Amino acid sequence: MGVKTFYVTTPIYYVNAKPHIGHAYPTIVCDILTRFHRQRGIDSYFLTGTDEHGINIERAAAARGLEVKTHVDEIVDEFKTAFAPLGIEYDQWIRTTDPLHEAAVAKLWRILDERGHIYESRYEGWYCGNCNEFKDVDARPDSVERPSCPTHERPLEWLGEESYFFRLSAFQQPLLEHYEKHPEFVQPDVRRNEVISFVSGGLTDLSVSRVSVKWGIPVPGDPSHTIYVWFEALSNYITALGWGSDDHEKFDRYWPALHLVGKDILRFHAVYWPAFLMAAGIELPRMVYAHGMLLRGGQKMGKSLGNAIDLGILKRHFAPDQIRYFLLREVAFGQDGEVTYEGLIDRVNSDLADGLGNFASRTLTMVRNYFEGRPPRPGRERSDDAADVERRIDEAKRRFDAEFSELNLSRALEAAWAGIARVDKFITDNQPWRLAKDPEARPRLEDVLATAYEALRHIILLVAPVMPATSREIWGQMGLSGDPLRVNPNETKWGEALDVSKIDRVSPAFPKLEKERIMAEIENETSPPVSEQARSVDRTGQPGTEAAAPKTTPSIQGAPDAQIITIDDFVKIELRAATVLEAEKVPKADKLLRLVVDLGEAQPRQILAGIAQYYSPEDVVGRKIIIVANLAPRKLRGLESNGMLLAASVGEDGRPVLATFTEDVPNGARLK
Ligand code: ME8
Ligand code: MG
Repeated sequence: MGVKTFYVTTPIYYVNAKPHIGHAYPTIVCDILTRFHRQRGIDSYFLTGTDEHGINIERAAAARGLEVKTHVDEIVDEFKTAFAPLGIEYDQWIRTTDPLHEAAVAKLWRILDERGHIYESRYEGWYCGNCNEFKDVDARPDSVERPSCPTHERPLEWLGEESYFFRLSAFQQPLLEHYEKHPEFVQPDVRRNEVISFVSGGLTDLSVSRVSVKWGIPVPGDPSHTIYVWFEALSNYITALGWGSDDHEKFDRYWPALHLVGKDILRFHAVYWPAFLMAAGIELPRMVYAHGMLLRGGQKMGKSLGNAIDLGILKRHFAPDQIRYFLLREVAFGQDGEVTYEGLIDRVNSDLADGLGNFASRTLTMVRNYFEGRPPRPGRERSDDAADVERRIDEAKRRFDAEFSELNLSRALEAAWAGIARVDKFITDNQPWRLAKDPEARPRLEDVLATAYEALRHIILLVAPVMPATSREIWGQMGLSGDPLRVNPNETKWGEALDVSKIDRVSPAFPKLEKERIMAEIENETSPPVSEQARSVDRTGQPGTEAAAPKTTPSIQGAPDAQIITIDDFVKIELRAATVLEAEKVPKADKLLRLVVDLGEAQPRQILAGIAQYYSPEDVVGRKIIIVANLAPRKLRGLESNGMLLAASVGEDGRPVLATFTEDVPNGARLK
């Protein structure tokens, strides 16, 4: 993008409902964009956060009988807890209740006031508390039947009150000129055209204060009003960087931003926000990019419809990198896209397990077996076919970067996968497993596998921002040191000196997902745990009305949320020491090991554990482990499991690490 620094922002989310995949989506994309730029050596900054003032938040708290601050603190925690396991690493989380933000917003207001852009008047109109917006509807204030909000389909309220106004009308021409001069300011083009036609239709002045809303930032000099939530929410993008405070080093360094927003809130970002900034004499954002909506059954996913994919369920069944890859690849960025659990499983199986994962594990297995773990050097006998692979990988890299810079994110991934398909064909055509049998063919074998290995190295660098955990894992399996996220693909040459050690452990980075089993499990747990339900509040501030939660299926990852229990609850769980007597892989189940364990009982027990991706049977036989001994038996793959072993879930991919003892403990000993 030809910039020295890169600053990207997500919308700041309302804290009136719990987070869902729609909130995770732009946040994951911003995370990926940030990692992409950092990997290419660009000083980058990633801001996300929460929008905590306004009437809808005030009502959501009231519906729960809580102080507003207590309510918002809780929901903010829920957002952070939901985002962390998705591999989201933001630089800053802004909260509009931060005192620094409040002070800077007041300062922005004063500047606009001093420059004559604000005046006092009276406003009357139909208002939607969920949109935080007056609506242009044709109905009298005393109408018996109140008009509805076109977005939320809930009745509007008639508001008539004193209000301060911002002279938005004065900015119609300057805005149109800006769109004209900077075609990249609003993107994609369809959205740009919508914005231009909206502004061309004329702008009326904007009411920017409320007397009826108490939960907000007071208007400087007139505390009977609070500042309109959108005015202060939009300001977060500069107040977070210290604009308006003594410490504005970050603002000087990173502004202007790329704002990633949903198309539902484009007008606020592409019309009001630049108008406020122009009025204050502040540089405008570099770009406002409107992404599309994630749909389910053709409808926008969201709290209002209760049709959103639940982040807790996602987290229990899918690795973060699988989710990240899926969202980026499945939905053309900028357009709406339907997302389903089935679609996610299919993508993982075809593109990750059969595609990248299979390419990586077969290449590394052959290198390990035929070269005792040390990657061969290319060069002795270079075929035209190998030279073509190199060219195609170079082309994939160029296309990947070009598409990424245009935010054509799914097309960038297609380019990388075109590279993978080329190497797959190369391997199949050259049949290294046959070359390996013929000592005369040794130079050709070296050429083929060195080419495949080198192609893999470059592909991993491309996908690293999208799938950081798995890329690091494969990088390590390749015997390469360092962090692929710190290696700039554009400064990485083909066949340059490789820093390699031995390749010893090759395990599939993307095991195949068992669709039927996972879908059946998901169906069993479609409602969130009771603790979350009690908190859920819909957009009108009414408590959630979902039916009581069914019990959730136990899984190796455990429940997502901490819940307070009493000692009486704890003693119901019978934890016992055990020794693994036998272990074997369960056929056609990539994740499962079948264990026979001695619990000090008359008969050993069979249990199934989802650890096969990380522990081989030999790793666990003879080990002392901890078992939940009184778990109801359940059947997996036709085999009965009589208990569950305990393991810590570690790292971005939730790798299991078995719990054990450092001192000798007899089998059957109870833990309490
Ligand atoms: O509007 N598909 O907050 P919000 C894709 N506080 N993206 C979705 C989505 C879906 N189904 N649902 C939500 C607000 N989003 C204001 C923003 S910014 C200064 C203030 C994403 O909690 C999408 O990016 O309603 C959308 O614009 C944003 O969440 C709205 O989040
Ligand atoms: Mg919204």
